[in-house]
Amino acid sequence: MFQSPDVATRAFESLLAFWVDSGVDTLYADQASDRTASAPTPAARLQSAAVRPPSPPSEKLVVEDIAATPGLDHDVIADARGVAASAPDLAALEAAITAFDGCPLKTAGARRAVFSRGAPDAPVMIVGEAPGGDEDAQGAPFVGRAGQLLDRMLAAAGLEGRVFITNTVFWRPPGNRTPTLDEQAACAPFLDRAIALVRPKFLLLVGGAAAKAMLKTNDGILSLHGRWFEWRSADGSLEIPALPTLHPAFLLRQPAAKKKSWGDLMTLKERVDRAERPT
Ligand code: URA
Repeated sequence: MFQSPDVATRAFESLLAFWVDSGVDTLYADQASDRTASAPTPAARLQSAAVRPPSPPSEKLVVEDIAATPGLDHDVIADARGVAASAPDLAALEAAITAFDGCPLKTAGARRAVFSRGAPDAPVMIVGEAPGGDEDAQGAPFVGRAGQLLDRMLAAAGLEGRVFITNTVFWRPPGNRTPTLDEQAACAPFLDRAIALVRPKFLLLVGGAAAKAMLKTNDGILSLHGRWFEWRSADGSLEIPALPTLHPAFLLRQPAAKKKSWGDLMTLKERVDRAERPT
């Protein structure tokens, strides 16, 4: 596909920024050598549709309706379901979230509800953990340092502009702690409704808290990342392939783990391109 020089230059700059973030600050040799001549790189393999292996089948976890978890406030969840289901579009859903009083985080110090950013018809929906301080201040998810790293990685992977971004909860937890199960359960009907409205082809679950909540598993993110699962909506009407990956805040602390995330993004990009290729 033809890319204008601007797009190619921005992608190249993004890739360079990503390498710098990953600790690459030295040229290995003055002269470029063609290392693809004998064996194609993973990137070159991705370019070639002819050698693309089929995607592995998604793994199925036992996905239970979060409302079935004992100890949750079922009235709150039922209320959230009713309100969310009646939102005809994303703007109405955001207004419904802002007006909703059932999530305890709303009155625990957050300045505002933080819902989403990105393309409303994106093929990929990214679900993170919870808004942090920058998100609480600016009213959009993933706008702080972790979000900027996420954006650079998405751009370098060719996924810029092809994502819709939200979180498992819509208010900043005090002290940026991990949201609790009942906080996530109160917000889950709104997240389900967002997924039903955007209808993404794939979900990218960013970090352990998002992966655990969406896949109803206790497995850690280091074992889940890079594996495809089938996310199912609470009413069973939607099934979407979901890929857990490491949280960019973790990558800022552990730059060596960026290699793992990069592999996950390549897997995702390959499936998105394939799903969007005209037949
Ligand atoms: N971390 C998240 O998980 N979500 C955000 O929106 C910001 C940081």
